[in-house]
Amino acid sequence: MAFPPAFIDEVIARNPIEDVVGQYVTLKRSGSNLFGLCPFHGEKTASFSVTPDKGMFYCFGCHKGGGVINFEMEIEGLSYGDAVRALAKRAGLEVPEDEQYQSRYRQQERLWALHREAARFFHSQLYAPVGASALEYARGRGMTQTTLTKFGIGYAPDSWSDLVDVLRKKGYTDQELRDSGLVTVSRKNGNLFDRFRDRLMFPIIDVRGNVIGFGGRIMNDRDKEAAKYLNSPETLIFNKRKNLFALNFAKKSKLGYLILVEGYMDAIALHQYGFDCAVASLGTALTEDGAALLSRYTDQVVLIYDGDAAGQNATQRAIPILERAGLQVKVLKMRDAKDPDEFLKKYGADRFKLLLEESASRVEYQLAAILRKYDLRDDDQKVKYLQESADLIGSLPSAVQRDVYGGRVAETAKISADAMHLEIERARKRRAYQEKKKQEKIDLAPARNLQPKSRAIRYTNIKSAMAEEMLLSLVLRESALLDHTGSLTPEMFSSQLLGRVYSQLKQRHEQGLEVSVGALADLTPEEMSHIAGILQRQTGPVNEQAMQDCIRTIQSEYQASKVTTEDDLLAVRDRLKERKGMKA
Ligand code: UTP
Ligand code: MN
Repeated sequence: MAFPPAFIDEVIARNPIEDVVGQYVTLKRSGSNLFGLCPFHGEKTASFSVTPDKGMFYCFGCHKGGGVINFEMEIEGLSYGDAVRALAKRAGLEVPEDEQYQSRYRQQERLWALHREAARFFHSQLYAPVGASALEYARGRGMTQTTLTKFGIGYAPDSWSDLVDVLRKKGYTDQELRDSGLVTVSRKNGNLFDRFRDRLMFPIIDVRGNVIGFGGRIMNDRDKEAAKYLNSPETLIFNKRKNLFALNFAKKSKLGYLILVEGYMDAIALHQYGFDCAVASLGTALTEDGAALLSRYTDQVVLIYDGDAAGQNATQRAIPILERAGLQVKVLKMRDAKDPDEFLKKYGADRFKLLLEESASRVEYQLAAILRKYDLRDDDQKVKYLQESADLIGSLPSAVQRDVYGGRVAETAKISADAMHLEIERARKRRAYQEKKKQEKIDLAPARNLQPKSRAIRYTNIKSAMAEEMLLSLVLRESALLDHTGSLTPEMFSSQLLGRVYSQLKQRHEQGLEVSVGALADLTPEEMSHIAGILQRQTGPVNEQAMQDCIRTIQSEYQASKVTTEDDLLAVRDRLKERKGMKA
């Protein structure tokens, strides 16, 4: 359904873009912009900008951009309507809605509320008589009262339908109960049963604070058949690959890095001991989605997996995934304990801090990985080892780093440090040469640079399009200019997209509505990003003179295009050929 434009404006006004983006990205002010690490692509330097006065975000790296509604759509994977609804809710605005509205979002909202009820119920059971032994267990594992409360730890009683009954009483339908994943359905008669029984319950909370699922630890370790941990199944609101346990807390950590561990108990123990930047993957290996999520909040991750073979394997697999997301990775090798939880309890926070400090950089890790591939007793293999190591070290920007690691590799292979140094320099030159080639290719195509990044938005007349871009950026910065556009019409724009945007802005201005990027409707994400990019690039002075220059160019290019019949085109082509011939 279409929302009234005034309502959209209200939603935008009540959701300052820096606040909404700030929920996902750590932003630092620089002039009138805020910068942070782009949540949409992996990167190490902040090229993601937010311009509060324009209500706009733009990434100079991946060229995504738009207003607050686009941001919400992109980051949460929502439709336009659902993004508007989510933002309205965030600002406490009533959404003008048709009654039979049955969007996914409404369903999600019900499931979030249902999960919150369930979490409340489980938590209360921990302190009820039925939960006595579970409480004892939790305390026995060192969880303090504060921790139990902070994480909302609960207990699912050993009964068939306590939770089902509670939720029904709260008005949830059987369909909603099934959708929640918190029940199992009897194959015999279709009755609903509690999925989690006699388990210590860990609520899984997303970065916006919604309870989206649970992990439940078995209380009866003698039952060898049952899984130690049972997790919520995938539902409309729970995707275990796209969420991380405790990230709702860790995202606020001031430590500047995130720790990734395997288990709920590890993450909880770390928080309790002051490492409030710990998160755990949810009973699954780390995925690209998980890495992308991490990279929204930090550029540095310390991996701590269990010391056993499974943990080592998981570490090996996680490193490239994290690096591809632009994260700097360190690996903490678990020693003298099977996991962080056990380590902290045995040795305390101070010794853990030492472990953290000596956790290896990814370079050391990668050098070790290269070393494992070759047998240094064989001369050929030794040479390959040295070359591959030199390539890796040659890619490091710091001379000190290159020197240190180069020295270490030389020592390992028993060659002179000088020889290694030469090899690294050669690798560096090769790399620099390749980069230069790449840059030249880009520089040699200036016209191509002016073209939109997305193929769907090609400009047919660059000269006119540049004027159109400039004009839009002028009126977006100073909407009063729209009073003086004279006889300019959207049809005169050579770019259909820019013409449409102009038309919308002009209309909004005439209706007394906000003229801003964020308020633009009916644009694809690529189109929106393109418009945001234009606004971000254009900086010159904002005045009527500048605008009139643009209008003149647009109109004269338009006139020229109108008289261009096929014959004219042929004539132009001949003339061009002639000119070329003359030069030759
Ligand atoms: P672990 O078995 O290492 O957990 O599994 P843990 O933290 O040491 O457990 P405690 O200390 O005995 O309570 C690590 C993670 O793997 C997933 C869970 O997410 C768990 O936190 N897992 C494990 C499952 O999903 N199912 C299982 O049956 C076991
Ligand atoms: Mn463990």
